[in-house]
Amino acid sequence: MPRVTFHPEGRADEIQRGKSLLDAAEKMGIDLRHDCGGFATCSTCRIIILDGVSNLTEIDLDEENMLEEAELSAPFRLSCQAKILGDVTVRIPEEAMEWSKEALGSLAQHSEKYREIIRLIVEDKARSLNITSLLPETVIPFLEEAKKAVDEAADDPVALSALVKQVCDMA
Ligand code: FES
Repeated sequence: MPRVTFHPEGRADEIQRGKSLLDAAEKMGIDLRHDCGGFATCSTCRIIILDGVSNLTEIDLDEENMLEEAELSAPFRLSCQAKILGDVTVRIPEEAMEWSKEALGSLAQHSEKYREIIRLIVEDKARSLNITSLLPETVIPFLEEAKKAVDEAADDPVALSALVKQVCDMA
C-alpha cells in the first residue's frame, strides 16, 4: 500500500490506493481543516506536496477552478481532491499570520499566480525572526526577496517545489 507522510507532524502510515489525502489525514488523526466537507468549494484543505506529485491523481476541473479562485498553484493541492496512487510526502501549511491591511495591499501587487507561495516565504522569514505582526515596513523587504526567488523558479513546478521545500526546511 502507498505510504503517506504528513509534516510538520512527521506522521506516516500506509493508506489504501484511491483514498484522498484528506482521508489519509483523518485516518492518521491529523487535524486538517476542510470547511466545505470535501467538495472542492473552500480551499481550506490545501496542502503542499513535498514529494511524489506524480503519485497523485491529476487535478480535475473542480479542483482547478477552486485552486484558481484561491490563487494557489503547484506545489499546492486540495487534499480532499488529490487521490493517492503511490508514496507521497506533504506538508500542511501553517495558519496564515496576521497581515496589516497596507501590507496585504503590497502583497496584492505581486503575481496573482504565485501569491500564496510568496506569502509562505514571507511568513516563514518573519517567523524565523520572531515577527508576528506583518506591517508594510516589515514585509516590503521580505516581499522583494520572496518575489525574486519565485520569479527565478516561475513556471517550473520542480524548481517551485524545491523552493517551497527549502522554506519548509524539508529539502
Ligand atoms: S475541503 Fe473544501 S476544498 Fe477540500
